[in-house]
Amino acid sequence: MKRLLLMSLLLVPVFLFAQQKTASVVLQPDQARLKISKHIYGQFAEHLGTLIYGGLWVGENSPIPNTKGYRNDVLEALKKLSIPNMRWPGGCFADEYHWMDGIGPREKRPKMVNTNWGGVVEDNSFGTHEFLNLCEMLGCEPYVSMNVGSGSVEEMAKWVEYMTSSGDSPMANLRRQNGREEPWKVRYVGVGNESWGCGGNMRPEYYSDLYRRYQTYARNYGNNRLFKVASGASDYDYNWTEVLMKNIGNQMSGISLHYYTVKGWSGSKGSATQFNTDDYYFTLGKCVEIEEVLLKHMEIMDRYDARKRIGLMVDEWGTWFDVEPGTNPGFLRQQSTIRDAFVAALSFNIFHKYTDRIQMTNIAQVVNVLQSMILTDGPKMLLTPTYHVFEMYKPFQEATNIPLTITSEKMTIRNKEVAVVSATAAKAQDGKVYVALANIDAVNGQQVSVALGNIAPKGVSGRILTAQNITDHNTFEKPSVIAPATFTGAKIQGGQLQVNMPSKSIVVLELSM
Ligand code: AHR
Repeated sequence: MKRLLLMSLLLVPVFLFAQQKTASVVLQPDQARLKISKHIYGQFAEHLGTLIYGGLWVGENSPIPNTKGYRNDVLEALKKLSIPNMRWPGGCFADEYHWMDGIGPREKRPKMVNTNWGGVVEDNSFGTHEFLNLCEMLGCEPYVSMNVGSGSVEEMAKWVEYMTSSGDSPMANLRRQNGREEPWKVRYVGVGNESWGCGGNMRPEYYSDLYRRYQTYARNYGNNRLFKVASGASDYDYNWTEVLMKNIGNQMSGISLHYYTVKGWSGSKGSATQFNTDDYYFTLGKCVEIEEVLLKHMEIMDRYDARKRIGLMVDEWGTWFDVEPGTNPGFLRQQSTIRDAFVAALSFNIFHKYTDRIQMTNIAQVVNVLQSMILTDGPKMLLTPTYHVFEMYKPFQEATNIPLTITSEKMTIRNKEVAVVSATAAKAQDGKVYVALANIDAVNGQQVSVALGNIAPKGVSGRILTAQNITDHNTFEKPSVIAPATFTGAKIQGGQLQVNMPSKSIVVLELSM
């Protein structure tokens, strides 16, 4: 009884200050044209930390339950996300990776030192076959990053032949010798990674010339058609995009962009789990700044490619904080809170608006690295809040985006106005309409009215992801602190949706027709 009294006293200040705010969203279903490519939901798997070894791959002789070396728990969890594509082997690692070291009998594969990430020994036991077979098991398309920084044109050309040729050619025969008769389907290839930095410290003019040369010898074998992605800019480097569009626009299918939600590149990036409300809003402000960055890159692309043939591929995005205390600084292992879940949701809400140009995005990274879907520790595994956003947003893959306008309270973060309520809506392939809403307010709830235009739903159901505290996260001891729950706070009233959102919550609503 005493405890109850104490608890209610502690809760008093929250009740006193928390308010129910209002926001409104207007859907324009008659303007719905753009399809949200499923590739917006892409993943990224680099040879970094415990992503590959321990995270995805434990080897056939591991006591951790596995299928041909891939750990079963992670495989099962990833299958539930309907992953459309996976980028591999890097990242910075890609420009030091020599693919021939990763084929043939595993015990004979040469070792190397992973100079980019922690200086650990890479034994190459996970190579081309292991990656492409994983993609087949997950039903996703591979996106292979080629080594331009320290690899030769010949090496790259042979890799494409090895993976995709069905002919009586040297590399196709080598593949057969290594146990794979039929070629794999490999559509997406990256020609270098961060060539302005870890991928060779090049100038855009020099990279453009190199790109022309490398891409020439990345051949289409049989009916395999390569989608060649040029190594694009980092966040605010608009000159890189300009020079590449001018010099190689006619030779690329896509150009990449990397944008991390990070405090800064020097000094501390802040803790992933111990932060205050100011840090929380700072991160979300930095996250939504991507929209301005995208618009500037897209404006440049439009000038050279008005018909929007070339895709903007945001093939690295997500949060970047200090590593988990006590872990190898080169392993980039970090926890994920409801703040990270918001970064995922707000990013998707933005990406969905520009899918006439944004053809793919890849969150960094899938397991145990940066804003991951999954964390493992030996045999243990947990799903992060970010995983749950990817899962809740699944119906948006290949759905038709419904444009919308939002009127909501704004807060000033990093000298910019940020709407407290963010939303996206789409007509999905199952005929239903999905509306996702995010209320980033750490204290106040929101009564959101959604005007549906000519959509007349028969019913509404939904799920919510929320947390008691902004720093809450899932641990191996308590893996379900943040997990989706049934949401009953939405109703249809007078042709509108009325949604009663708690503070710091993400809601995905399903409207049945
Ligand atoms: O995702 C981690 C690293 O970030 C990648 O290897 C690199 O491309 C980027 O700088």
